[in-house]
Amino acid sequence: MHRSRRFAALAGRNINRETFVEPWAEAGLMVADSPYDPPASLQLKNGQIVEMDGRQRDEFDAIDLFIATHAINLAVAEEAMSTPAKQIARMLTDINIPREQVARLVSGCTPARLVEIMRHMNVLEMMTAMAKMRIRRIPANQAHVTNFREHPALLAADAAEAALRGFAEVETTVRVARFAPFNALAILVGTQTGRGGVLTQCSVEESLGLRLAMKGLTTYAETLSVYGTERTFVDGDDTPWSKAFLASAYASRGVKIRFTSGTGSEALMGHAEKRSMLYLEARCLLVVRGAGSQGVQNGSISCIALPESLPGGVRAVLAENLLAAMLGLEVASGNDALASHSEIRKTAKLMLQFIPGTDFIFSGYSAIPKRDNLFGGGNFDADDLDDYNVLQRDMQIDGGLKPITEDQALHIRQRAAQAIQAVYRELGFPPITDEEVEAAVVAHSSDDMPPRDIVPDLAAADQFLTSDVNFLAVIAALEKSGFDDVAGNILQMGRERLAGDYLQPSAIFDENFQVRSAINDPNNYSGPGTGYRPEGQRWQEIQNLPQVKPPQAFIDGNTGQPLARLAELEPAAAGTQAEVIVAVGPAFGTALTHTINGLSHESVLEAILTGIASEGMLARIIKVYHTADCGAIGYVGSRLSGSGIAIGLQSRGTTIIHKKGQPPLHNLELFPQSPSLTLETFQHIGRNAARYAKGASTTPVAVKIDNGARLRLIVKTTLMHRREIDEVREHQLPLELRFDWEPNE
Ligand code: 5AD
Ligand code: CA
Repeated sequence: MHRSRRFAALAGRNINRETFVEPWAEAGLMVADSPYDPPASLQLKNGQIVEMDGRQRDEFDAIDLFIATHAINLAVAEEAMSTPAKQIARMLTDINIPREQVARLVSGCTPARLVEIMRHMNVLEMMTAMAKMRIRRIPANQAHVTNFREHPALLAADAAEAALRGFAEVETTVRVARFAPFNALAILVGTQTGRGGVLTQCSVEESLGLRLAMKGLTTYAETLSVYGTERTFVDGDDTPWSKAFLASAYASRGVKIRFTSGTGSEALMGHAEKRSMLYLEARCLLVVRGAGSQGVQNGSISCIALPESLPGGVRAVLAENLLAAMLGLEVASGNDALASHSEIRKTAKLMLQFIPGTDFIFSGYSAIPKRDNLFGGGNFDADDLDDYNVLQRDMQIDGGLKPITEDQALHIRQRAAQAIQAVYRELGFPPITDEEVEAAVVAHSSDDMPPRDIVPDLAAADQFLTSDVNFLAVIAALEKSGFDDVAGNILQMGRERLAGDYLQPSAIFDENFQVRSAINDPNNYSGPGTGYRPEGQRWQEIQNLPQVKPPQAFIDGNTGQPLARLAELEPAAAGTQAEVIVAVGPAFGTALTHTINGLSHESVLEAILTGIASEGMLARIIKVYHTADCGAIGYVGSRLSGSGIAIGLQSRGTTIIHKKGQPPLHNLELFPQSPSLTLETFQHIGRNAARYAKGASTTPVAVKIDNGARLRLIVKTTLMHRREIDEVREHQLPLELRFDWEPNE
């Protein structure tokens, strides 16, 4: 059998490292609309749900019971369930219907009805709906900050940089569980060095997570996982009630919480009960709401590769994000775990949350290199930050981040590493050396850190956890060491925990340490001209990538001294002898002195004249003033040329060989790719022009094709052309030029 080289090339592409599988409803390998999903139904009797989604109350499992008891707004349930799903879907995309009106109806829907609504929506409609239903007005972003070596100075430096880059929440975790209090401490100190008010969490086993929070080392948690089938809950030794209780425990200590759920977990754990992933997720979301959580981290999260292996998987993941927003929950919308080998596919998936905006577009953007990401490798990581900033600038979309300079990063990293060094010193933890601080400031990854003995660190961490030393000691240590600002920020976080305003739905702190939540800054999108969009100062911030240059910088260095060897004479007369005319553009050798790839105009002229002379032909140089167009310059030259052959040359180097009598755009040879032209090419062009003038047979000059040239140089091309056009004098006849030169050997 033949093997197609094209198919072989495709087979080698990253997209073909993915796994794709056919749906299998019985195993739960179906993202939506399993034939086993129940039809939506609801029966009330004496103010109690007696039937829900095809099940009678006495058949309810624990999840059904929890939802029926706590999650459905009975006051609107009958109205909601008698409104066709398609009508609610249309309300979601209708800009004339405010979010509250839709949310009210949604609050009375059963899980199966929620899924039915999604069935009517394509991803574009879901994105429109997300823009409206997201509960906070301004989107934000969450970062992952971990490292393989669990180095405290590196954690602090990375957390500080993440805070400076705009992340509103920073999450860490552990490789060795005993490190939890130290990792939590490092990112607390780091973030509050970068920007006061960034929320932090350490993702660990739940009772340990709660202890860290109670010590004041963390300010939020999102480790409360829920699942859509009872067996999955049982395997995790949990119930919806136990989760609700844990959530209250956090909240009672002023700690923000959100739950975690997401398509695929039940199938992965073997208990999907033949239901589709989206149906099970709808159940999860109602459990989250019933438990009183302000929000959820969903979008498949750690399971993302599973829906992505199935048809419609990415659509279903957006649907689950949207369902959460419709239920009034803050959504941290995934994009966290490594989901694809393909950069194209990763970015395409991201757009579904990035374009409409969610409360946290990533529920963990890996602000560190992939290898250091202890959540299993981030989907976007530190090496993609410039790409991300460009996407924000391209689309005028606030993705929650801002570009920073290298100096800013180095400065904040140093302060954070020194701050954690001071805390370790004052609290008697194993010392962090100056060498470790310096390494953390400039490190790309934990590979760049000097070795550190983790045994004493672990012993100190154990002791720290069991002692009654808490965040107040950290504040005192920082104050004593000259880090008053960091101490002040941590103290302020403590105060905020007492005030509790940041327990409101979707709360974060802004740059001024002010709460922004769905209560005091609710989403008010209702179509064009409404809602949040980056404007003014924020839009400036997004635009100002450190890589941006002022336009002038592109032609600086190309406007040197006019060529002394090139003198303008009288208006050019029509020639009568055998000759080649070299007609140059109006800026040539004066306003501009080099071609786009830096060849001096002098050397270009010398090369062309050398080529012409090599065929024993005479040459004349003229300057065309009334046009800057390459074709027109060559055309004018040919009309003045005794042989009828001319070379037209723009200042940036674009060249044409033209013959008198041919229409302006019908040339002998055209060299539109000026950046690829070398002096050898120009000499060859001169020689060919001379051969045309003699009537000799001539092979066109071969030129290199550089597909990237236009991409790289289009701004420079534009600015050089503009400079040339500035020199156009409409009524000036072409002038004869004198050029003093010696032929190259
Ligand atoms: N459903 C429920 N919990 C999840 N987690 C990750 N993905 C899911 C999901 N789809 C949990 C993990 C871990 C944290 C990262 O979130 O169990 O605790
Ligand atoms: Ca997260």
